Amino acid sequence: MSAVIAIDGPAGAGKSTLARRLADHLGVQRLDTGAMYRAVAWAALERGVDLDDQRAVAALAAAIDIAVDTTVEVDGVDATAAIRSPEVDAAVSHVAANPAVRTEMVRRQRRWVMQRGGGVVEGRDIGTVVLPDADLKIYLTAAPEERAGRRAAERQDGRTVPDVAAQMARRDQLDSTRAVSPLPTAGQVAAGALVVDSTGRTADDVLQEVLGWLWTNG
Ligand code: DC
Repeated sequence: MSAVIAIDGPAGAGKSTLARRLADHLGVQRLDTGAMYRAVAWAALERGVDLDDQRAVAALAAAIDIAVDTTVEVDGVDATAAIRSPEVDAAVSHVAANPAVRTEMVRRQRRWVMQRGGGVVEGRDIGTVVLPDADLKIYLTAAPEERAGRRAAERQDGRTVPDVAAQMARRDQLDSTRAVSPLPTAGQVAAGALVVDSTGRTADDVLQEVLGWLWTNG
């Protein structure tokens, strides 16, 4: 069994960058669990499933094949770019609040780790719910304006930083106040989690902090 590393935190905190770098450094694979919820939201929008019909969305989540790697495929269709659209951004928190969808995604995420004997898994509830026995749990955060700036630069879809900031704040609010497995706030992170603030720091600097922790405690 190689290392199991959980990374949680709000949108735009730098989770994907850290997960990629950490996985490369340790020679393990990484799983972006947000992409899985996005894939379900995208499939629901594509197939005209009513997002308010919780049973229909859950049935869809259970039926579709989702392959998350460097690309994201849903039932063999490449949805890598489509799952990052403003429409999916707006719909995904609703889908992620569906308890039956979460049960199915959590089952798939645990199976992914079991099959590989470890890996870096990023999301919102990884250290608290999906993999509470992870070898290292990281809670990555950053100042809201910096998170919005990074996300706007990443997407380049015409939305201004204030627009992105407003939608991000709405999404974080929904994600952290839902009944099932909410995103913890920085003050209520998983037991034993390393809290890392990436505000004003380079990706390399953040990676070095995490590696330093691993060398000392791992
Ligand atoms: O990380 P992201 O922005 O791609 O995540 C998309 C959405 O999925 C986000 O609104 C929160 C939700 N999510 C979740 O509820 N649980 C996870 N483990 C990962 C993401």
